[in-house]
Amino acid sequence: MNLHIFQNQQELNEAGAGIITSLVQMQPKAVLGLATGGTPVGIYEELVKAYNKGRVSFKGVTTFNLDEYVGLPADHSESYRTYMQQHLFNHIDLPAAQAHIPNGNAVDLEAECAHYNELLEEAKQIDLQILGLGHNGHIGFNEPDDSLVSGTHRVELKEETREANARYFNTIDEVPTHALTMGVGTILKAKTILLIVRGADKAEIVHRALTGPITTEIPATLLQTHPHLVVLLDAEAGRLFE
Ligand code: F6R
Repeated sequence: MNLHIFQNQQELNEAGAGIITSLVQMQPKAVLGLATGGTPVGIYEELVKAYNKGRVSFKGVTTFNLDEYVGLPADHSESYRTYMQQHLFNHIDLPAAQAHIPNGNAVDLEAECAHYNELLEEAKQIDLQILGLGHNGHIGFNEPDDSLVSGTHRVELKEETREANARYFNTIDEVPTHALTMGVGTILKAKTILLIVRGADKAEIVHRALTGPITTEIPATLLQTHPHLVVLLDAEAGRLFE
């Protein structure tokens, strides 16, 4: 594991974006696994800046998002499709056909998961998977459980996940109860994993995830088994590592 702790958010954002742009510069057809949520926003901002300065092009890149809510229209302000358009896709030259997000509105969600898995198979391997971390140790929307699922699947969100994400909705009742998520098998198959964690409220869970016993009750503990894990923490989240 390659762990870095940053004293300010800007340095973390630049480091995260730097890892992604270096990869794409060296490998213009890279396959990127993308996350949503509050954590990667600053990194996407830096990627857009790098693109605007002509330092990187995403023309040949393929992307796969980790997850999407079930039942929110794709153009809903809080869908992960909308998030990606607003924070990244609208501002770079990534061809729309190369940007994949599970369709949480598919009539047949099982078929949609199978289709997403097929697309991932065709892409062979994600070169760099970006991950945030849930307060309960989830990665993607792989929630704590007594067993975990390898491929893309439909998941019921834990109450604490809905509560954490309620900040983006008017009321908690509007937060979807289910999502589609890439499975832990797909995540762990990525060549490199870039885990980003910010904030004092995640200091304990990130420490347990990276140093505690491996358990499906904290899905992120499985990351300890990955041979190329890069971890970027802000000082608050990294408090227990110092
Ligand atoms: C998002 C995702 C989630 C988030 C996690 C942290 O695509 O898969 O695992 O990374 O819930 O969310 P934030 O960054 O909002 O604290």
